Amino acid sequence: MSAKILQALGLNATESGTYLGRGEWAATTDAGTVSPTNPATGEVLATVNASSAADYETIVQRAQEAFAIWRTTPAPRRGEAVRLCGEALRKHKDALGSLVALEMGKIKPEGDGEVQEMIDIADFAVGQSRMLYGYTMHSERPGHRMYEQWHPVGLVGIVSAFNFPVAVWAWNAFLAAICGDICIWKPSPKTPLSAIATMKICNEALKEAGFPDIFFLFNDAGTELAQTFVDDKRIPLISFTGSTKVGRMVGERVARRMGRSLLELGGNNAIILDKSADLKLAIPAIVFGAVGTAGQRCTSTRRVLVHSSIHDAVVDTLVKAYGQVEHKIGDPTLATTLMGPLNSPEAVEAFLAAIEKAKAAGGTVRTGGKALADRKGNFVLPTIVTGLSNDDEVVQTETFAPILYVMPFDTLDDAVAMQNAVPQGLSSAIFTQDLKAAEQYLSAAGSDCGIANVNIGTSGAEIGGAFGGEKETGGGRESGSDAWKVYMRRQTNTINYSDALPLAQGIKFEF
Ligand code: UN1
Repeated sequence: MSAKILQALGLNATESGTYLGRGEWAATTDAGTVSPTNPATGEVLATVNASSAADYETIVQRAQEAFAIWRTTPAPRRGEAVRLCGEALRKHKDALGSLVALEMGKIKPEGDGEVQEMIDIADFAVGQSRMLYGYTMHSERPGHRMYEQWHPVGLVGIVSAFNFPVAVWAWNAFLAAICGDICIWKPSPKTPLSAIATMKICNEALKEAGFPDIFFLFNDAGTELAQTFVDDKRIPLISFTGSTKVGRMVGERVARRMGRSLLELGGNNAIILDKSADLKLAIPAIVFGAVGTAGQRCTSTRRVLVHSSIHDAVVDTLVKAYGQVEHKIGDPTLATTLMGPLNSPEAVEAFLAAIEKAKAAGGTVRTGGKALADRKGNFVLPTIVTGLSNDDEVVQTETFAPILYVMPFDTLDDAVAMQNAVPQGLSSAIFTQDLKAAEQYLSAAGSDCGIANVNIGTSGAEIGGAFGGEKETGGGRESGSDAWKVYMRRQTNTINYSDALPLAQGIKFEF
């Protein structure tokens, strides 16, 4: 099965992890290797030769050369390049979706959904390429015109995480490309094959149509090149998706060199169910949010805050629903599976450690709470814990696994306060049929997250809205609204078409 999935995308048992541009993949074999494994079996899928320091230099130099051409290529023409990538991804959606499922461990419909998300951002970016608007202003000086324009920022570094091994690259790369930037990608060492396949699909489409190289790739066997990357002054913007711990380091290092960073870090997302919540909607939203992608989305539902009058009934219903999911845990590439494995054995350890902490803090495991140790792969049971307080350390911490903490509340004010009382601020949702509650929740005194939903869950955001969050989530926004602006630099231009030189603020300077 796995060989067939790799073959469908032209991937071999040994792959170069470095795209140098000009259709060349580096022949480097002495910079270490990255070995992606199938999380459902532990089998090594392929050996990826990592990039050397010299490869990295070649990439940055070629990216700079490409930028000199790309920055003056008209933006709608840059949009055409992205349109071709979107078309190529449409053709390869099934194959790439399967590879994502195989290598990351998410189920096939979610793997396909991830490729669809790339196609959607491609379409969005094509339209955006004709809408890189700047304001015009009225000058206070006669015979003067003032306006602003947006220029490409330059080289964009993209560091992506294993859980969305291809979509997050596309969110960044397709917008950056239409903005006139050149992208250099360092994917997660857990999912290099998905990245290599994506680069092949997009770069072949670009090459065929005679476009210059706008997308480069390197893989790092350790962390040395990644650090060079983050510290590299030639790269004005680093977009990082991953843990808050690493993101904080990236943000600090990039800030030290006065670079720009776009951070998409952890979440600790809650769903609130008030008395009026429609459980027909709320229960499936919670189950998808908590169990989907085996709880490995930054938008995964980690906490459910339920009005105390319906708390016990909601827990019982959820436990029953989890019982159904348990029968459909397995090979993520099979159509019948609802929940795949965690991505790595370390993730299973983190899951088990969190369960132990939850128990030690007085929590009750209502369902799940175990790893499936008698089978190969990193499988765990989706877990519900009750009886904890929102302040408990384990509840305050994002564990990248399917663990859901259900807690009661009495007033909406209390629920919103609990929801917001975590270090992270990514996604949030309320299920209510009470208009006042919904509006209160969305008001300035309501949810403090970057995403706040009513009657839909916390995960599964669509392209078009700005995606990202506050506090320890890092503040970045991607994939919609005016997120394109982060990939550009703003220039204010004042043009004097008069015969005089009046100074602003009425200053007289005569000599
Ligand atoms: C992530 O988990 O890093 O909103 C991104 C969602 C997806 C993206 C998640 N569209 O769940």
